[in-house]
Amino acid sequence: IGPKPLAGQRVLITAGGTVERIDPVRYITNDSSGKMGFAIAEAARDRGAEVTLVCGRTEATPPHGVNVIRTDSALRMRDEVMSRLDGTDVVIKAAAVADYRPASRADQKIKKTSDLLTLELVRNPDILQEVGEWKEARGGGPFVVGFAAETTDVEKHALDKLARKKCDLIVANNVAEAGAGFGAETNIVSVYGRGGFAEHLPQMTKRAVAERLLDIVRDARKGSSER
Ligand code: C5P
Repeated sequence: IGPKPLAGQRVLITAGGTVERIDPVRYITNDSSGKMGFAIAEAARDRGAEVTLVCGRTEATPPHGVNVIRTDSALRMRDEVMSRLDGTDVVIKAAAVADYRPASRADQKIKKTSDLLTLELVRNPDILQEVGEWKEARGGGPFVVGFAAETTDVEKHALDKLARKKCDLIVANNVAEAGAGFGAETNIVSVYGRGGFAEHLPQMTKRAVAERLLDIVRDARKGSSER
């Protein structure tokens, strides 16, 4: 292996939380910091990949030397991801995409007129699942890695997402654990893949998780091309 093992490879990474607008000054978002996705982007860049980073709302500054695409809502993020799939070798979806968005966005700031205000939400598309379906319809496409932030039954939910969203790997973290998940500098993850593959990583910096994950992706891609 040379010093730039991912040279010539296109890697698309999503990071951060989506922002779902309620009115011009208010929105729904989540605690995702973007740090895990940024660490993967840096690691892939340092291995020589051509990296596109599709970002939602993030606390951290995106790394240099990668193509940064800023998005806000899940719908916009979907468009940015889907329009770039052709020619992409690896997709890593570390973004926390909102499951629901306001059914309509008010043009003006909502005034406080009544004591009870009901906000109607509609389901967002599942981008990871659409990527899996895109691949299935075409009979091929990028190697796809999903993330799963769970607070209970981590393995069960991760394996369910691996199958349902048709991913090649799922990286699961228990966001309720200390030293893992949103905002933290470290993470504690388990990686699940096809054919019963499972690897449980100890607490590590997000960069170290990123490096190990790229090694697992490399080995899994090699395995599938040799099959
Ligand atoms: O939210 P959930 O736990 O199902 O997220 C698992 C994976 O699916 C993550 O990689 C996330 O980025 C992706 N996802 C998505 N679109 C959604 C919800 C989740 O791409 N609407």
